[in-house]
Amino acid sequence: MVSSLMKGAGIAALAFASGAAAVEPIVAKGKYFFYNNGTQFYIRGVAYQQGVGVGGSVADGQTTFTDPLADPKSCARDVPMLQQLGTNTIRVYAVDPTKDHKECMTQLADAGIYVIADLSEPGMSIERDNPQWNTALMARYTSVIDALSPFNNTLGFFAGNEVTNNNTNTAASAFVKAAVRDTKAYIAGKKEIGRWLGVGYATNDDSKTRDELASYFNCGADPKAAVDFWGYNIYEWCGQSTFRESGYEERTQAFRDYSVPAFFSEYGCNNPGGGEARQWQETSVLYSNLMNKVWSGGIVYEYFQEQNDFGLIKDFGYVAANKTMQMAAYKPAEKARQCPPVAKGSWEAAEALPPTPDKNTCDCMVSSLSCVVADNMQAKDMGSLFGTVCGLDPKACAGITADAKTGTYGAFAMCDSKQQLAHVLDAYYKGTGKSKAAACDFKGQAKLVNGGVPPTVASSCQPALASTSASPVTKAGAAVDPSTVGGSDSGSGSGSGSSSGGSGSSSGGSGSSAGGSGSSSGGSGSSSGGGSSSGGPSGSGSSGSGSSSGSSGSGSSGSGSSGSGSSSGSGSGSGTGTVAAGAKSGNSTTAEPSTALGSRTSSSAWGYVAAIGAFAAGVMFL
Ligand SMILES: *[C@@H]1O[C@H](CO)[C@@H](O)[C@H](O)[C@H]1NC(C)=O
Ligand SMILES: *[C@@H]1O[C@H](CO)[C@@H](O)[C@H](O)[C@H]1NC(C)=O
Ligand SMILES: *[C@@H]1O[C@H](CO)[C@@H](O)[C@H](O)[C@H]1NC(C)=O
Ligand SMILES: *[C@@H]1O[C@H](CO)[C@@H](O)[C@H](O)[C@H]1NC(C)=O
Ligand SMILES: *[C@@H]1O[C@H](CO)[C@@H](O)[C@H](O)[C@H]1NC(C)=O
Repeated sequence: MVSSLMKGAGIAALAFASGAAAVEPIVAKGKYFFYNNGTQFYIRGVAYQQGVGVGGSVADGQTTFTDPLADPKSCARDVPMLQQLGTNTIRVYAVDPTKDHKECMTQLADAGIYVIADLSEPGMSIERDNPQWNTALMARYTSVIDALSPFNNTLGFFAGNEVTNNNTNTAASAFVKAAVRDTKAYIAGKKEIGRWLGVGYATNDDSKTRDELASYFNCGADPKAAVDFWGYNIYEWCGQSTFRESGYEERTQAFRDYSVPAFFSEYGCNNPGGGEARQWQETSVLYSNLMNKVWSGGIVYEYFQEQNDFGLIKDFGYVAANKTMQMAAYKPAEKARQCPPVAKGSWEAAEALPPTPDKNTCDCMVSSLSCVVADNMQAKDMGSLFGTVCGLDPKACAGITADAKTGTYGAFAMCDSKQQLAHVLDAYYKGTGKSKAAACDFKGQAKLVNGGVPPTVASSCQPALASTSASPVTKAGAAVDPSTVGGSDSGSGSGSGSSSGGSGSSSGGSGSSAGGSGSSSGGSGSSSGGGSSSGGPSGSGSSGSGSSSGSSGSGSSGSGSSGSGSSSGSGSGSGTGTVAAGAKSGNSTTAEPSTALGSRTSSSAWGYVAAIGAFAAGVMFL
């Protein structure tokens, strides 16, 4: 198969022998990408990451994925192929920041290929049903930025992939947008980077939420929290179709005035006829005048032929040879969108975002407490303890509130769950419990520090603590229509743990507040032990708990049960990635292959669908 690719590629080695050409960083201006030298840049991309076995069975038991940029031998095998196909960008879904990426990144740079990397990994991502943006995730995200930002051919990052995927989990987008805000600030604050490096989001194509999603990540009073680019995972064009029939025309109309670069972060369709029958008509149209003023190209799903039968690549199509503009001549006119109105059941994420994770603040908070989590507290019992305490005294849980609908967040919503639990125990002890020793016990799960004598807090902690308050804050810009969001009287939370080697996910507790008109905020489960580093067959996941934070909501809260490891994928092994037949309507979400790494298995490490010709010639792009 490899040789047929080579033969078919028509033009052999192109410029591969050219050696270490300095690669121009990419920049965004308005809605387009440009090379630093001013020439417009279109993404001719390929999704490049091999799935792993269900459950992530890899040798060291530590990770559930194989970092495609840390395997120079595979890179040496694949980069020439990618180059012959005319690829100038790959998307990788999970990298291991502790590994060395220099060789692969250099090989790619020499071939003129840029990288867009997802910041999450299967065991450490923002979970749509139990969204959090906390110190552990921030550490994961920034470690990936640290690992890849030194390379000029890193184009940018995705802060999330299809996290909100329908109208039942729109609140999760507030957490993802907080991740966008904080990773952008991290990049801007890191002097060594010293160049444009984007952070975007890769969305799915759900007809009920796609417009709100595109607006939400682009809108708001704080442009620093908005995405630098928008990725669209789209599987609408199947087999023989047209710009109009496929739905591409409608999608293109919808993005005509988008103010930042938009591109297909995954596209393709393997129906009818499976991967080998892919026609790639859509590729030619994507780069034609019909679409190239709106979209900055796309990323074909996917390079590796796996069980889902999407493997590359027949050709990339003959792409347009039309001239395009230079950066200096382009005067962006597009404005950011309005934020979508918050309304129950359709869009439940206010403009105001969760707080920025800050480990120091969390550590300082814990150091100031009189009542903390006892040493023998089991992670699996956390959820029920949250539930118990928050049920007894909802006010004790105000500091960990995370209510995306109203944009109300406690200052400690970003701490890890053990720290959050300590905060809650202490607040209960000092509040309802009237500081009696018995109020800091909970069957031995809580303990007094220093006999209850309030600790002296280090002076270095004073600024951090002074800037936080145990009361949740609804930030400016969180304007919501109370008639649409208030008055909820049930709370639910869910938790899920993550562990390497585990599979499945838990959803912990649901709380309901009896009566009361408070809105409730969901749980605070999170993985303890930092996700991927907690090995072992049974995960040490934790816990959700519902807590009512409404003023008069005094209900009992549910208790969470512990998870035993989850990967962000569906974990389904079949992964056939079938696409609904006749999915022509641009309104329907065409079934798509799961992109969660944990859900794909590779049937062959090296299985191209026959790769044929024309592409290399088609590289005469622009
Ligand atoms: C990275 O890009 C900058 C700016 O164009 C350039 O000065 C530098 O030489 C490049 N580095 C490499 C290793 O190509
Ligand atoms: C800018 O750089 C790209 C990539 O190396 C190259 O294809 C293009 O011709 C350059 N444009 C100019 C104006 O030099
Ligand atoms: C929404 O997405 C979740 C997660 O993929 C799924 O379980 C649920 O069935 C979906 N609900 C609707 C109404 O589409
Ligand atoms: C290139 O531009 C010309 C003139 O605008 C147009 O007629 C032609 O269709 C374009 N080619 C493609 C592939 O879009
Ligand atoms: C798609 O949705 C639009 C508006 O939401 C509607 O006008 C149009 O008829 C729909 N098209 C199809 C094919 O369902």
